[in-house]
Amino acid sequence: MMDAVAACCALLRQRCPDIEPKVAVVLGSGLGGLAGRFADTVEIPYDELPGFPAPGVGGHSGTLSLARAGATPLALLQGRSHLYESGRADGMAVPIRTLAALGCEALVLTNAAGGLSAGLDPGRVMLVTDHLNFTGQSPLFGEAGDDRFVDLVGAYDGALREHLVQLANGLGIDLHHGVYAWFSGPNFETPAEVRAAGILGADAVGMSTVPEVILARQAGLRVAALSIITNRAAGLSDTPLSHQQTLANAARATDDVGRLLYDFLVEYAS
Ligand code: HPA
Repeated sequence: MMDAVAACCALLRQRCPDIEPKVAVVLGSGLGGLAGRFADTVEIPYDELPGFPAPGVGGHSGTLSLARAGATPLALLQGRSHLYESGRADGMAVPIRTLAALGCEALVLTNAAGGLSAGLDPGRVMLVTDHLNFTGQSPLFGEAGDDRFVDLVGAYDGALREHLVQLANGLGIDLHHGVYAWFSGPNFETPAEVRAAGILGADAVGMSTVPEVILARQAGLRVAALSIITNRAAGLSDTPLSHQQTLANAARATDDVGRLLYDFLVEYAS
C-alpha cells in the first residue's frame, strides 16, 4: 500500500513539479464539471496512478487534477470507489494517503444524497456535521498498529465549517446542516430504513464519503463534506429513485457548490 502511495507521489511530482497541493476536493456524482473552473490544470488519469480506483458509475470519470484557485495549490479528484463496487471499503485508501503524502492539509468531500429532514429538497446543499455508519464496514479493517483506532470526534472540522458557512452567507447560498448516514448501496434504501435512519438522527442518506472521512482523519487531514440533495429519500416522495435522477438534480446545485468551493479554495491559502 505505501509503495503505491510513494509511486503516485513520485509520478505526480514529476508530472507537475510546480503545484504542491495544500487542499484537495473529491467531486461527487454530477460535479465533475467543476474541475474546469481552475487555472494551471494538469490532469492525470487514475489508470496511471497505481492503487487508484478504476472508473465505475456514470458521472465519475477517474481523473486527478492538480491546479490553482487564486494562490491556492489544490488537487481535485473526479471519481471515487464505492463499497458497492467491490464489497471493500478501502478503495480510496491510496488516493487519500497520496494527498496527505503530497502535503495536503485539508480535504473537502462532495457527494449526492437523499434528503430526510424538512427543507432538504432536491437541489439543496447540506454541510455535513457528523455521520452515521450503517454499513458495518470500515476502510481500516485488517490494518495493524495503533493508528487504526481513529478518533472521529470533530471529524468534520469546526473551523472549516464555520468558514464555509460565512462564505455561503456572503454568496446568498442557503446552506443546510446535518448528519449524513452511510448505506452500502447500490440499491437505494427501503422506506423503513429511511424512517429508522431518521429516528436515529440522520438528515440525509448516501453511499459514499464516510470511508474517505475515516481515511482522511487517520492521515491527519482536516475534513469538510458537502452533500448535494438530489432527491427526497425513499418513501418521502412519489418520484421513483434512479441514478439518472441523481445526476439530473445534482446539476441543479452544481452552481451553488461550485461558487462556494471556488471561494473557499481561493481563500484557503490567503
Ligand atoms: N440514497 C442513497 N444514496 C443517494 C441517494 C439516496 O436517496 N440519492 C443520491 N445518492
